[in-house]
Amino acid sequence: MATETEQVPGLTTTRAPFIESAQNRGELFIHQPYEQYSAENHESWRNLYARMEDRWQRYANEKFLEGLGSLGLRGDRLPLLDEVNQFLAPLTGFKAKPVSGYVPAYLFFDCLGRREFPTTITIRDVATPDYLPEPDIFHDIAGHVPMHTDRAFADTLVRFGEAASSAVERLARMQVKGGLSEEALHDRVRSNLQALARFFWFTIEFGLMQKRDAATGELGELRVYGSGLLSSHGEIKYAAESPEVQRYPLQLEWVINQSFRIDRYQPLLFIVESFDHLFDEVNRLEEWMWEGRLDNVAPGEPGVSQEEIEVSLEAAREKL
Ligand SMILES: [Fe+2]
Repeated sequence: MATETEQVPGLTTTRAPFIESAQNRGELFIHQPYEQYSAENHESWRNLYARMEDRWQRYANEKFLEGLGSLGLRGDRLPLLDEVNQFLAPLTGFKAKPVSGYVPAYLFFDCLGRREFPTTITIRDVATPDYLPEPDIFHDIAGHVPMHTDRAFADTLVRFGEAASSAVERLARMQVKGGLSEEALHDRVRSNLQALARFFWFTIEFGLMQKRDAATGELGELRVYGSGLLSSHGEIKYAAESPEVQRYPLQLEWVINQSFRIDRYQPLLFIVESFDHLFDEVNRLEEWMWEGRLDNVAPGEPGVSQEEIEVSLEAAREKL
């Protein structure tokens, strides 16, 4: 008789038949077929989790550490999203929502505004714990979701999602009204999406925090709240300690114009003082968007494909 593990196809990054068939059917939002995780998939989670625990204690901000506890995440097996959501939803209303792959920008922002977090369910190969060409469940659940248990952070993410959807809807309205050439309109969409992606990158993915002491005005110890760092064993230490990293207080005009590369440790990071501070910056980002100040940001990374522009505009037009 075949053992259970021999028959399980696995949900490994780039090698998951379940994901391939969902993609072939054009299904973006899916369920998590938990029984399909192989023994190796669980081993991969166990290894990743075990080597992050010390790092989290040393570098993660306190809200992340509290979140790990309140979600009941376990290091011994892959998380069941329904279980995670049972703990998460009563705290902030957020839910992890399984997806089959890349979510177009507008849809992604729209989900955040509704307190849904598009979540990858595959996990990186057990043999390559450090190499991650795309997000996986360790990044999304162990890196992002503990932050979603904190009210101030969750509200900031919702504000960002709303502001970002409004940005695309503003441009879709311009398109309906006419008056701008298709090329000029697409350039503006590209620029807005770049500005928003850069803000997301330098805060939600790679943000650092230093609290200011109310009495003395002095800045405290550097702590990490960005999920790209919270899910990387090597980079979390590098980001917090390496003298090669340039760290600056968050400056909106800089962040939205700053190109970045995803294939190396980040050489430049930005610091906020609190999640209230971050919330204020999201509000400012939205004001700038309405004033047209995201319409012509510096070219560079991240690239935005023509398809991405068209899909986002189309989805936003349907909502007008
Ligand atoms: Fe992420």
